[in-house]
Amino acid sequence: MALELDQAFAKASDLISDTSTLVRVVLSGRRRNMSVPFERIDIRPVLIKDEISLQLSQNDGRAMTTKNIAPKEFDAKSYLNLGYANILVEHTNGALTIRITKKGEAQLHEDKGLRTQNLGHDRKKARLLSASDPFLIEVGISDLNGEVKPSRTDKYLQVEEFLRLLVPTLNSAIEAKQIKSPTTADPLVIADLGCGNAYLTFAVHQYLKSANMPVHVIGIDIRPESLKRNNEIAKKLEITDSIEFRAEAIGQTSLTLCDVAIALHACDTATDDAIAWSVNSGAKLLLIAPCCQHELQTQMVAAPAPWNILTKHGLLKERLGDLMTDALRAQILKLLGYRTEVIEFIGGEHTPRNIMIRATLTGAKADAIEIENYKQMLELWEIDPALASRVNIIN
Ligand SMILES: C[S@@+](CC[C@H](N)C(=O)[O-])C[C@H]1O[C@@H](n2cnc3c(N)ncnc32)[C@H](O)[C@@H]1O
Repeated sequence: MALELDQAFAKASDLISDTSTLVRVVLSGRRRNMSVPFERIDIRPVLIKDEISLQLSQNDGRAMTTKNIAPKEFDAKSYLNLGYANILVEHTNGALTIRITKKGEAQLHEDKGLRTQNLGHDRKKARLLSASDPFLIEVGISDLNGEVKPSRTDKYLQVEEFLRLLVPTLNSAIEAKQIKSPTTADPLVIADLGCGNAYLTFAVHQYLKSANMPVHVIGIDIRPESLKRNNEIAKKLEITDSIEFRAEAIGQTSLTLCDVAIALHACDTATDDAIAWSVNSGAKLLLIAPCCQHELQTQMVAAPAPWNILTKHGLLKERLGDLMTDALRAQILKLLGYRTEVIEFIGGEHTPRNIMIRATLTGAKADAIEIENYKQMLELWEIDPALASRVNIIN
């Protein structure tokens, strides 16, 4: 349903002001031509010394700050007007989602699923994957007592946080009919590209199966030893009907189609192979967390003045190379008709490679200015990103 912004915000504001039913509010994304003070703001009611407060967790992309505000001092409308494109208000009787389009219209969606309020002040983050889940023991993240091994904590958290983003993204894409609603006869095909030891592959399979979502998950990795190990684990878990592995290079895989493509730290240009294969095989949804990137840096020799200030120092050049690689990947996806966001999927303390490119195929034709900007950037820097030669950008 489309509504005027004021009306949509009034509706959200009413729900937020009722702290007896409010579960949480999430403000994220940025409206066109607006800047926002934080990447994301989470708001929820908490009980402190028998009084309800609103706890605001504000994430600026590097760190999270938290503050508590008395409900009567909280001006919901001014927060709603900060410039965020996505507003989620969950309450005990359902949820209101507002997405503000490029034209500034509010698209509303309401769902009636019941939710529980949790007023705990120092709430420990509920985990999606129980450490004692047999698959975590089999893949070697947890020990035989069902405790996460200290040496594997970062990987466990990377997989957990990846899943935390994948699940709502999948649900809303299914709801918006951007990807099919899977059935047992026609399950959702999910490809994990550069799956390695398949921590994420198994996690996605086990979690979605436990949520009764029909899925067929395929892990692809160039290393035959990964295939052997992963197949043995799948056999042990008795899930070979709905998970499979292939020892193939992503660029030459025998897999021809998937609905959803995921990749966690596929090395260097293997991430470009993963994006290119996904696009060329018509994947509707991509969640790609890139790894180390060297390819573009080697091309950044002719930095145009005054931007060469940025490349004078090796360390900064390296970081700029990473940023430019991912920015160009995101731009290419946009030009190819994907709604694309670059987000942090986990805190930097668990991996410096904590960026995720999330892209949903909408088929929207790119604005001429977006194509022009992309071309100009390549010309100015005299660069040719690896992804560009793997896809058909300008049609
Ligand atoms: C850093 S590991 C990440 C593995 C796994 N996704 C994870 O997060 O634990 C990168 C994996 O990508 C695989 N890889 C690299 N280049 C590849 C290619 N061109 N095709 C398939 N797999 C590739 C490697 O064999 C390795 O297992």
